[in-house]
Amino acid sequence: MSGLEPGELSRIGDYRLLERLGHGGMASVYKALHVPDGETLALKIFESDLCSDGEFISRAEREVDALRICSHRSIPKIHGFDLSGARPFIAIEYIDGEDLERLVTRSGPLDEALLLRIARGVGGALAYCHARGLFHRDIKPANIMLERQTDRIVLLDCGIVKAVNWTLLSSAGSNMLGTQVYMAPEQVTGKKVDGRTDIYQLGMTFFKLITSRDPPPPVDAGDWKDPATPPEFLANLCKLNPQISPTFQTVIGSMTRIKRELRYPGVDHLLVDLTKIERGEPVALYLPPRPTVATRVAPPDRVSPPPAGPAADPEEAMPTMPRGLKRTRKIKALALEAEQEQDAGEVAEPPAPGPPVAPEAVEPAVVPAPRSGAWWGWWLALVVVAVLAALFHLGAR
Ligand SMILES: Nc1ncnc2c1ncn2[C@@H]1O[C@H](COP(=O)(O)OP(=O)(O)OP(=O)(O)O)[C@@H](O)[C@H]1O
Ligand SMILES: [Mg+2]
Repeated sequence: MSGLEPGELSRIGDYRLLERLGHGGMASVYKALHVPDGETLALKIFESDLCSDGEFISRAEREVDALRICSHRSIPKIHGFDLSGARPFIAIEYIDGEDLERLVTRSGPLDEALLLRIARGVGGALAYCHARGLFHRDIKPANIMLERQTDRIVLLDCGIVKAVNWTLLSSAGSNMLGTQVYMAPEQVTGKKVDGRTDIYQLGMTFFKLITSRDPPPPVDAGDWKDPATPPEFLANLCKLNPQISPTFQTVIGSMTRIKRELRYPGVDHLLVDLTKIERGEPVALYLPPRPTVATRVAPPDRVSPPPAGPAADPEEAMPTMPRGLKRTRKIKALALEAEQEQDAGEVAEPPAPGPPVAPEAVEPAVVPAPRSGAWWGWWLALVVVAVLAALFHLGAR
């Protein structure tokens, strides 16, 4: 998009444009002054010709309006919007700082202490959104900012991607569907997204922040042999950047497994593992709970669990794939294949034997109550006892 220069159009409604902060696939962002109250805000201005369908616009406006009640330290507040005017825009809290795309380009790979802070900030924002049924869908370094004065981590565009995509999809721009290299496999194959999609995208964001290289496009990642494993290019992060610990690499492995059933099921799992890293405790690759007879949900994981104990070998924690696999294999085919394998291999696990029980701990046996169908047995016994008592009485005389 061409983007407005402040000289070209210095005012939109009540906002005076001050400076262009950046631009992405669907909009340009300006620092702007809200003239009536003198507040500095960020104005996200969308392409004017995105959509002419009033129904899409009303829906987008309803969704953006609903976002105004979001209140979280790591989510910028939405101040106002107008998506139906000639220049559709959303006015957002201005963050005085730098986005992580610029930071990593300027200063190279980030160290683990900063990465942990980023994981905590974005993880907290995601936990807040996911609890309200909101999924971000476009997590990437350009959508995360580090505020200058406060060191606050801020996640941009929460809820906006979905809301505004309603209008964008109607004009079917090819670059509108998310940022390709950070897309999760389920987005590439057009499946429904959920919280694990955001967790995957955050893991791929860490790849960029750790290596200062873009993740390979998903078409190359289509070489995945086994959807149970993370992509191969994530297996050597701590060799690519020696500042990264094997435990942090293991966490990224648990975030980026191709088959989403094998990823962290929720952000709370990620936050627990971050706490372990901060305390210097070992972290194991996430494994979903083993199925029981009662649940019969999934076959046992075919990836062997990493050994318990400190500093699991990263190579073991994130198994790699053999090279030379045919590039023609599509992600969708692999997912289908995996599901078929899963169906074929589904077996009910016998319950795991429990620990041995000490004899003194065994409860005394409880005598079962007689069943109602055996009432005549009791009557017979009573009659026999009565006859014996009568005979005994007579004999005694
Ligand atoms: N609230 C804000 N405060 C300060 N700067 C912002 C704010 N929102 C966005 N920016 C800056 O503007 C840049 C561009 O944002 P924008 O969301 O338009 O593009 P993008 O994130 O690269 O792409 P996408 O359209 O996929 O979100 C951001 O990377 C950030 O540097
Ligand atoms: Mg953005």
